[in-house]
Amino acid sequence: MTRAVRKELVANRTAQSGSEEHSRDGVAPNGVGPADGAGHRSVDPVVVPGDDTEYDAGLRPRHLEEFVGQADLVEHLGIVLEAAQRRRQPVDHLLFAGPPGLGKTSLAGIVAAEMGASLRVTSGPVLARPGDLAALLTDLQEGDVLFIDEIHRLHRSVEEVLYPAMEDAKIDIVIGKGPTARSIRLDLPRFTLVGATTRTGLVAGPLRDRFGFVGRLDLYAPGDLEAIVRRSARILGVRIDVEGARRIAERARGTPRVANRLLRRVRDFTEVRGDGTITGETAVEGLDLFGIDELGLDKVDRAILEALCERFSGRPVGLTTLAQCVGEEPDTIEDAYEPYLLQQGLIHRTPRGRAPTARAWAHIGVPAPEAALF
Ligand SMILES: Nc1ncnc2c1ncn2[C@@H]1O[C@H](COP(=O)(O)OP(=O)(O)OP(=O)(O)O)[C@@H](O)[C@H]1O
Ligand SMILES: [Mg+2]
Repeated sequence: MTRAVRKELVANRTAQSGSEEHSRDGVAPNGVGPADGAGHRSVDPVVVPGDDTEYDAGLRPRHLEEFVGQADLVEHLGIVLEAAQRRRQPVDHLLFAGPPGLGKTSLAGIVAAEMGASLRVTSGPVLARPGDLAALLTDLQEGDVLFIDEIHRLHRSVEEVLYPAMEDAKIDIVIGKGPTARSIRLDLPRFTLVGATTRTGLVAGPLRDRFGFVGRLDLYAPGDLEAIVRRSARILGVRIDVEGARRIAERARGTPRVANRLLRRVRDFTEVRGDGTITGETAVEGLDLFGIDELGLDKVDRAILEALCERFSGRPVGLTTLAQCVGEEPDTIEDAYEPYLLQQGLIHRTPRGRAPTARAWAHIGVPAPEAALF
């Protein structure tokens, strides 16, 4: 594309965006939310992942062989990447789906690293207008990896720019306004789109179909989390014994990000109250102190169970009502809390809402009324 066209494009885009900040949908005007939280976070159209905005950047696996667990996904992805390398072509477009903190962003970085490509990072809610995405696409170099986080939150009109870009490496853009407006079709360099979503169900069918590979991440098994805790401890220079790693892994609710967070809190605890070495005993003491119980549930999880069992006496409760009760967003409950509670068999979903299981009553230590059990 000519420089002039690009310039015009960028100018158009700036004019469209006006002074409106990228603050829609709770996205901070210029940046990255806490990398450590369970809620949504977003990034500016382009940031370099791994810079100091990422809290635990150093802990992110950089290559596929460092990525612990998710054996099937790693094997399939390995084959897809190697085949593309052999053909000397960019990898097919990839979609990673799964609850927060399981490694989707890490995988996007790994794809770029393995392909020796540069990674451009953006996210669905940040791309407010088609022009935002067009400017990003036309700025790509051959082989680049474009990562769109929270791709299910892309605006419909922005999504439509993606279709020809993904399929034919082309983009249609309208230049100018009113009677002088003209539409031109530009060739894009071949690139790889990596999408991440916490909700495959919300990715529109036509978009989902254009990905050559969809990788689903599941909650991690305790053994894998233990390996992740040991790896992170090594990187952070924390002394930890086998039992200590096991205890942290047990309470990490199947999520590497949580495992890393608990490791840091237990490290704080042992540095202040102990000799700095994490053992099974100090891990349990530290985790108890920070309100993480033996199932890995935190205050919000317990508030959910208490609301279901006590407040609603085991009757099914709708998501919105439940969210209001515990003071969280429905999306956060659904993405971040529910998968683990379901996996642990503490709640179940019925057509009329969420209800607690016998295990939930037992866990919060309240006898279940006869009628509440089935
Ligand atoms: N398989 C893994 N092996 C080792 N560490 C991992 C693995 N997966 C994730 N992590 C760690 O967990 C952290 C969170 O992972 P990541 O940011 O990739 O998750 P995510 O799925 O993109 O989450 P979100 O949906 O919130 O964006 C990373 O910083 C990394 O340290
Ligand atoms: Mg991510």
